[in-house]
Amino acid sequence: MAPRTVVVIGATGLQGGSIVSELLQYPNTFKVRALTRDPTKSTAQSLAARGADVQRADLDAGTNVLAAAFSGAHAIYALTDFWQKQSASAEIVQGKAIADAAVQIPTLEHFVWSALPDPERLSGGRFMKVNHWKSKSLVAEYIQHEKPELWAKTTTILFPNYFENCLTSPERYLPVPNANGVYTLSFPHSPDTVMPNFAIADTGKLVRIVLEGGSEYFTKTIAFYSQALSEAEKLAALGERYNIPTQYRKINADEFQQILESRDGMCAEMAVDFAEQLLIFEEFGNIYARYEFVQAREIPGLSLRTWIDFLHENERL
Ligand SMILES: NC(=O)c1ccc[n+]([C@@H]2O[C@H](COP(=O)([O-])OP(=O)(O)OC[C@H]3O[C@@H](n4cnc5c(N)ncnc54)[C@H](OP(=O)(O)O)[C@@H]3O)[C@@H](O)[C@H]2O)c1
Repeated sequence: MAPRTVVVIGATGLQGGSIVSELLQYPNTFKVRALTRDPTKSTAQSLAARGADVQRADLDAGTNVLAAAFSGAHAIYALTDFWQKQSASAEIVQGKAIADAAVQIPTLEHFVWSALPDPERLSGGRFMKVNHWKSKSLVAEYIQHEKPELWAKTTTILFPNYFENCLTSPERYLPVPNANGVYTLSFPHSPDTVMPNFAIADTGKLVRIVLEGGSEYFTKTIAFYSQALSEAEKLAALGERYNIPTQYRKINADEFQQILESRDGMCAEMAVDFAEQLLIFEEFGNIYARYEFVQAREIPGLSLRTWIDFLHENERL
């Protein structure tokens, strides 16, 4: 059988990059079309050098441009990047344009939507400002209710906290030494509040299994994480790994939001959005473990890195 063409949106990024790397290892099964706004950038050129068909496409260019980029696809990995514009409405427009374009592709067999859960539903209306989750869940609802023919071949993947956040945003995720040389990490969580975590580098492994499984995963929502861990546990393991004294500090949500604004330059709305997503786990536990979701870590043949694995792979954090 000829290889199936898989279009990967966000191919130059963390999720998409992992998928492209994985699928390129199976050239008899998959042909990879990697989308980027800028095929001349070094990450895009490196994907091309490794065998991906790199093509230009901007999610803001509208349905017709996207339909051309998806032409002949057997599968599409669809992602939107909230943090580019920090706008839920812009993310919803992009997500709907992707879905509207995907339904026009007669060859399409499988559509994979990179998502986050509905914060309002899972918190019973308690947390209403987690816009970067809500936008992705609304796109999933749009596909389910407005594009049923696409939904019939859609797999939704809920992403957790990336281990790699401590590489991309070290100021937020790595401890800093206080005046006594104790490495301190501050979050608005109790020390025993767990969140789902994983290594983004493992994304490709799951997506390959999902694409190979096909109809087994249609209309399913997969909760993707390797471990439910508290930030305090992660900090303690990091302290042991580097032999440094550590201290976890639970701060209140207002103080945390102020830090996000002053240290990380977030506007007030983004700081509330970011803080509320963490507080959902504080109040409702590990919502990713709910029975309504397929648990990625129970999928046979999928081995996922642990936090300890990640610490050992990254010599210097
Ligand atoms: N960090 C976390 O813990 C976490 C957890 C769960 C979910 N998420 C979600 O993950 C998403 C980001 O994915 P990521 O981590 O893979 O991001 P990333 O590494 O920052 O990469 C973003 C990708 O999106 C592409 N992109 C952005 N705007 C585009 C546009 N207008 N048209 C076409 N491509 C565009 C970029 O491609 P080019 O620049 O090459 O065009 C790039 O490949 C966000 O929506 C975030 O909410 C993050």
